[in-house]
Amino acid sequence: MKIAIIGSGGREHAICKILNRSEKLEKIFCIPGNAGTSLIAENINLNLENFDEIKNFVLNNKIELVVVGPEKPLVEGIVDYLERYGIKVFGPNKLASKLEGSKIFTKKICQKFNIPTAKFGIFENEKNALEFLKKSNHPIVIKADNLASGKGVYICENIEESKLAVFEIFNGKFGQAKNVLIEEFLKGEEMSFFVISDGVSIRNFGTAQDHKRVLDGDKGKNTGGMGAYSPSRLMSNELENKVIKKIIQPTLKALLDLNTKYKGFLYAGLMIVNDEPFLIEYNVRMGDPECQTILPKLKTDLLEILLACCNKSLSKTNIEWQNKKSMCVVLCSNGYPEKFKKNIEIKNLDKIKLDENNFLFHAGTINKNDKVFSSGGRVLNFVSISDTFEDTKKKVYSKLDELNWTGGFCRRDIGYKVTN
Ligand code: AMP
Ligand code: GLY
Repeated sequence: MKIAIIGSGGREHAICKILNRSEKLEKIFCIPGNAGTSLIAENINLNLENFDEIKNFVLNNKIELVVVGPEKPLVEGIVDYLERYGIKVFGPNKLASKLEGSKIFTKKICQKFNIPTAKFGIFENEKNALEFLKKSNHPIVIKADNLASGKGVYICENIEESKLAVFEIFNGKFGQAKNVLIEEFLKGEEMSFFVISDGVSIRNFGTAQDHKRVLDGDKGKNTGGMGAYSPSRLMSNELENKVIKKIIQPTLKALLDLNTKYKGFLYAGLMIVNDEPFLIEYNVRMGDPECQTILPKLKTDLLEILLACCNKSLSKTNIEWQNKKSMCVVLCSNGYPEKFKKNIEIKNLDKIKLDENNFLFHAGTINKNDKVFSSGGRVLNFVSISDTFEDTKKKVYSKLDELNWTGGFCRRDIGYKVTN
């Protein structure tokens, strides 16, 4: 079977690598892919905003399944578009993708279905937002409604910071803003919780804890994710049941009420406060770097799972995992998440010995004249799996040190809260 994966990050390289284990697989195309995916798949450089071009490529090459990695094409409706031409696509449709595309859409669902989330208000202009903020306690959280690559969230410590956030949002920093979302600040510990759905049933797809801040000790600026470990140390059967019952199931019911179904990965970003889960946000895809952290532990054929989702037969598919601990450390370009240099050569990649417990996924990399160069802020993802977190940490950092790339840096404390 020929398949196409859309995206170019570490998440897509991990999906490529794990799908490649399937005996059913004949060929993978990665659109556009990176230097890592080119080792497994054929990279095809198409414009992700031109759905017609993608549709023509898929039909001309007799591709039987398209897997969409990132949120942007999902929110823009790529699934609806390709399905209109009879193409099988793994990922949610445009309406269901509003769970990530519009924070206010999700908040309204939470309100209607009593889903636990931070208390909130929606304000349509700067004046009303500021009047409310003057009367509120800080810290307080201010969010742009639309997709902002994780940057549209402000945690404001005082009224001056709040004023700046509201000003920036209404002045178009994240695109035209009709309104702003103001939320109560929740104090707890975060967890990434994943399910996969075919629109009829759901299956758990692992948990992880992401380290979003750039510096050791969870300090410094927010990033796309500096590393993660799985499973989350907060996970228990009791908590899992609460998340499914109080958060996931009512959300899927809300979509059914809107006459739509959820097909794809669903990622709930949760804050756990005194053992109670609160929904912070939904993402309509796997997390990055959580995907790289979780997928290597999958025992079941990933292609069978994705096909079962497209064929609505997930209830008949058993998903099995290795009972192991995994960890991912992200190697970034110096300067990230602010200005960083690109096009720095990465040598020694072929000297790193990888096996069924040690993985290296590429993110921002490109091939030029048979050499690999950095092309983004997050460049490489080292992943190891083992019986204990302690051992996983040793392995993952020793592989990373073997590379010894001076163009980049990483956090040295990923998983500092877990040992065994
Ligand atoms: P989001 O893009 O909505 O996930 O927000 C980015 C980050 O901001 C989250 O990962 C949290 O660390 C933080 N955050 C968002 N909303 C809240 C909240 N209501 N209380 C505390 N922290 C929050
Ligand atoms: N790791 C956070 C995200 O994928 O949004």
